[in-house]
Amino acid sequence: MDSSSRWYLLLFLVHFICAHAGIVVGASVSGSERFLQMSKESEFFEWMVDIRRRIHLNPELGYEEFQTSELVRKELDRMGISYKHPIAVTGVVGFVGTGKPPFVALRADMDALALQESVEWEYKSKVPGKMHACGHDAHVAMLLGAAKILQEHKNELKGTAVLLFQPAEEGGGGAKKMIQAGAVDNVDAIFGLHVATDVPIGMVSSRTGAIMAGSGFFEAIISGKGGHAAIPQHTIDPIVAASNVIVSLQHLVSREADPLDSQVVTVAKFQGGGAFNVIPDSVTIGGTFRAFSNESFFQLKQRIEEVIVAQASVHRCSAMVSFLNEEQPFFPVTVNDDTLYALFKKVAEGILGSGNVRAQHPVMGAEDFAFYNEVIPKTFYYFLGMQNESNGLLRPGHSPYFTVNEQVLPFGAALHASLAIQYLLEENTSHGSSHDEL
Ligand SMILES: *[C@@H]1O[C@H](CO)[C@@H](O)[C@H](O)[C@H]1NC(C)=O
Ligand SMILES: *[C@@H]1O[C@H](CO)[C@@H](O)[C@H](O)[C@H]1NC(C)=O
Ligand SMILES: *[C@@H]1O[C@H](CO)[C@@H](O)[C@H](O)[C@H]1NC(C)=O
Repeated sequence: MDSSSRWYLLLFLVHFICAHAGIVVGASVSGSERFLQMSKESEFFEWMVDIRRRIHLNPELGYEEFQTSELVRKELDRMGISYKHPIAVTGVVGFVGTGKPPFVALRADMDALALQESVEWEYKSKVPGKMHACGHDAHVAMLLGAAKILQEHKNELKGTAVLLFQPAEEGGGGAKKMIQAGAVDNVDAIFGLHVATDVPIGMVSSRTGAIMAGSGFFEAIISGKGGHAAIPQHTIDPIVAASNVIVSLQHLVSREADPLDSQVVTVAKFQGGGAFNVIPDSVTIGGTFRAFSNESFFQLKQRIEEVIVAQASVHRCSAMVSFLNEEQPFFPVTVNDDTLYALFKKVAEGILGSGNVRAQHPVMGAEDFAFYNEVIPKTFYYFLGMQNESNGLLRPGHSPYFTVNEQVLPFGAALHASLAIQYLLEENTSHGSSHDEL
């Protein structure tokens, strides 16, 4: 070996060690903690708090998030982040990074609930009958926080982060409309989160596989023949028929479903009659059904219709069943990808410390995030803790007394940003040329 080839070998070794070290640093996510530090700095933190409070003050329902959407776009403009708008009426889709694949999406929902706020504080909703009682105001603030972190570190992005500010999560099928508008075309993976009142601040909770149920609604009009309450023999009583229908529906889960396969059928609406001495012509009932697989879900749907029609006919009534899925599309099951769970656990432990990633039981609640499951190869959803026991218990979402522990904002921003960066890094190294060099 002559001296020039030895020099060559030495250079090669230095190059090899550097390239290798670069990958190790990335894989150990030592960088993620700095994002938490950054978003906890007072200027950054107060900026997110201010955004969250401004949105809280002015809640807007699904597909009416015009001012929220404008606020989002103004902040993206200030950061120099390009975006598409309008998507699904009020939706905004921002882009940070190379503008090239791979694409990883982060999602925040923007809509409020039709609910009167009962919390007395400086930033109480100023719109009567509307309230951010599900934390979507915080979700928007955290995704803008992540946007800022990502934009300031855009040279580290080995691909593109797609920021989804989505309308109408609360039953309006906003995710479905975002998909139809092409917002997630070419997206390889997506992360979504929800603030949780029952998980401690500084902790997250998730699982692999199904995490939230598929959900549908049903409504039935059960018709008989009204008349005098004292002369039942001249009537066909839909109240008694509907009562037996409701009892029979209870048997779908208790007698027909596998006890180890969680399902729910709830009749939550019963409307009929208005006087003590009149049997009405008809009764309307309605409710929801939930399951963790398509198979169980569509089995329940079929049996709900059969039971209502057949049981009504036992009492000489007719029944019209509708599943309302034009206005309220069925929510699919929310399923977490195994490889994204591994990535999430590593990233979250890097930021929060090991022991702060909790195992989540599946919940019967449904999320329209599940629509992304049907079109994006890898999806992942997790709960972000905000409970701080020294400040008392937090009321659950959809309560008029719901509050957000604003200390949660830096955690959400840092997690969003770190997950996107780390996902792109691992996609890049697993397919990239640096792998071949090793
Ligand atoms: C579940 O059913 C819906 C509606 O038929 C379908 O679009 C979706 O792809 C199914 N999902 C799975 C995982 O089979
Ligand atoms: C919980 O609340 C207490 C009292 O306000 C505060 O001192 C503490 O820092 C909070 N903990 C976290 C993790 O935010
Ligand atoms: C990895 O990232 C670099 C720098 O952004 C890019 O040039 C390269 O094409 C990427 N490789 C893959 C496989 O995505």
